[in-house]
This record gives sequence, structure tokens and C-alpha cells, in this order.
Amino acid sequence: MVTIETIISMKKKHEKIVCLTAYDYPTAKILDEVGIDIILVGDSAANVFAGEKTTLPITMEEMLYHTKIVARAVEHALVIADMPFLSYQTSLADAVYNAGRFLKVGARGVKLEGGTPMVDTIKRLIDIGIPVMGHLGLTPQSIHKFSGYKLQGKTEEEASRIIEDAKFLQSAGCFSIVLEKIPAALAKRVTESISIPTIGIGAGPHCDGQVLVLHDMLGLFEDFTPKFVKKYARLGDEIRRAVQCYKEEVKKGIYPDKEHSF
Ligand code: KIV
Repeated sequence: MVTIETIISMKKKHEKIVCLTAYDYPTAKILDEVGIDIILVGDSAANVFAGEKTTLPITMEEMLYHTKIVARAVEHALVIADMPFLSYQTSLADAVYNAGRFLKVGARGVKLEGGTPMVDTIKRLIDIGIPVMGHLGLTPQSIHKFSGYKLQGKTEEEASRIIEDAKFLQSAGCFSIVLEKIPAALAKRVTESISIPTIGIGAGPHCDGQVLVLHDMLGLFEDFTPKFVKKYARLGDEIRRAVQCYKEEVKKGIYPDKEHSF
């Protein structure tokens, strides 16, 4: 079973950490069978599962449901639940209560967005036994502050702040940090500045691990594809083909045939 200790030791062994998102039982089961190290129940479910424009609307109850059904499928991978917008920013008490609820339904840690302002929250969660994954760079819950899904850390001032934030998250006790949509050279600097693993998404090849949104890399979410996404399958096309075939067979009376009848 992949543990927090396993993930931290992988950086020391220069072994790449493989992470993908999942929101449901059947896909989580496949990811676990293949040996994905970390399964992130991302709040990207708001976008690619529920069709929202941002991650802001997804609720604790919805994230708890996704986390519960993912955790039910997983035997080996480390299941991390993403804390939704307003579930941890409002007070330490809210953060503790909501993070704890994720552990109650089977997550083994939580992810939350933000740098230095999140340090007290992260320390508190870790103090009471809840492992925390940080998230820096393009943090989608701050989409309106950034005025869009823009590359972060372009100026030296921004880059230095991200490196400082990463050091603060490490000293607060995070076991890893997601770096989203920052230049590859900056991700390399961050990765070399800290001893906990960095997990990149749109952050180039130098991170200690990589994460992608499952529906993006499978070609299942077709509204928009970020430049950093490599499509490893075209499941949208495959579903279209299968549904079209089923439709034609029902219309023509081909299905159900003898083989599929009693
Ligand atoms: O919600 C999510 O899927 C994420 C990943 C993009 C890291 O936070």
C-alpha cells in the first residue's frame, strides 16, 4: 500500500510519482489496478464531471460523495481528497472539521490551495494527524484573482514568491506540493529547493511526479484541452461509436438477439 512515507521516499530514490484524478468507483479501480501511486479526488470534478466553468461551485457534500466511492475501489494507491472552495479558508475549525470528514470516508490526506497564508491551517491539520498536500502556481480556486487560467510565476518576483511559499509549505509539514501551470525552469528551481516531492501539472519535466485530470488525458472531456494535456486515448469518440452502433441496432431490431435474450 502506498503511504505518505512511500511518497516522500520516492523523491530520495529519484523514482517518479504518478498521480491521476478519479471521481468514481470504476475508474478508481482501474487506476489502482494499474499501480497509480496517488489518486486525487480533485475538485476538477466540478469542471470535467459536472460541467461547471470553474471549481468554485463544488460543495463538501459532493466532494465527500466522490471521495467515498473512489476510496471504496482503492486497495493500494494513496487517496487524497481536494478541499473545495470555502471548506478551509473560513476558519481553522472549519478546516479541521472538513478535512476530518474526508478521512472518515476513506481519504488518507487532503490537498488545499495556497502558500504562506495557509501555513497555520496546514500546521493544525498535520498536528491532529491529517496529511496535507500543498498546491501552488495556478490555483484554480483563485481564478478570478488571476483573471483566467494564466501561466503563473513568469516574473522573477512571482517566481521567488512561489519558491518561498514552497519552503513555507514544507516547513508547515506538507508531504508534497502540486505545482500547476508554471514555467518548467521555475518548477525545477522549486523541486531543487525542497526535500518533499513536487507533483507537476503543466509545470514541465523536472518535477518529482506528474498529475493529470483523468477526463482530459482520456479524451473524455472535450469542451477545452489545456496545452499541457497529452491525450492518451479518445474515449469521447469511442463512446460516440458505441452509442451510435447501439442506436442503429435497436432501431433495426438487431439488438437484442437470441444470444442476449432468455
Ligand atoms: O482538482 C484537480 O484535479 C487538481 C489537479 C489539477 C492537481 O487540483
